[in-house]
Amino acid sequence: MSITPASKRRLRSRQQMNPIELNAKNVKLVHIAAMSTERGIGIKNGLPWHISADLKRFKALTGGGVMIMGRKTFGSFGGRPLPNRHHIVVSRDPNFNADFEQVTVVHDIPQAIETGRAICAKLSQPVLWVIGGAQIYAQTIDQADRLELTLVNLTPECDAFYPDVPANFEFGSRESHTDPGSGVDYQFLSFLRKRAELDRF
Ligand SMILES: NC(=O)c1ccc[n+]([C@@H]2O[C@H](COP(=O)([O-])OP(=O)(O)OC[C@H]3O[C@@H](n4cnc5c(N)ncnc54)[C@H](OP(=O)(O)O)[C@@H]3O)[C@@H](O)[C@H]2O)c1
Repeated sequence: MSITPASKRRLRSRQQMNPIELNAKNVKLVHIAAMSTERGIGIKNGLPWHISADLKRFKALTGGGVMIMGRKTFGSFGGRPLPNRHHIVVSRDPNFNADFEQVTVVHDIPQAIETGRAICAKLSQPVLWVIGGAQIYAQTIDQADRLELTLVNLTPECDAFYPDVPANFEFGSRESHTDPGSGVDYQFLSFLRKRAELDRF
């Protein structure tokens, strides 16, 4: 069968629409979290601060993507999923349901990661985001490839905390900023799983 110029054009346009051919196992698991200098991330199922540049960055990084979250963090969105993102919500409650097209409810962490990776592959998304809260960060940090952490230079009262960064992560990059509204200093820090660890997979 000959390849006509028209079929070449169709193929090229399909490749442009779907530039990354991904296998689910190549999808990276990446934490995104904002924490205080005492590793506090939340209070009474809400965020302890409002830093709009950090929320914008969260939106830009996770937009169009797939995010794993605990049932409490999902609840903190006010009963509705965030737009333009697929939500994988983890709950032990077999009756928990969320009746939205862009929400998948799962009942354990391995199922969350497997389902999330499969959806990422389908959407050609190279990253599966873990967006919290404390329980979900703690149970997935050992499997994360990268951590995108905003370190907020505040010490508010918190009842939810980010885990210690394990020794098998190395510092990747730092960007320092000051929130113009509040004058609060914050840094975007990135940690990468050490190469030797990645080579095991
Ligand atoms: N600063 C940040 O970047 C950031 C990001 C996200 C969240 N937060 C904050 O973190 C706080 C919430 O964190 P959290 O630790 O209390 O709650 P969470 O991690 O959001 O959700 C906990 C819930 O997830 C489910 N769960 C946990 N482990 C599970 C497992 N192994 N298998 C099945 N289900 C499991 C359970 O749901 P069921 O009870 O339904 O079984 C559990 O109650 C809030 O204050 C939120 O605002 C902060």
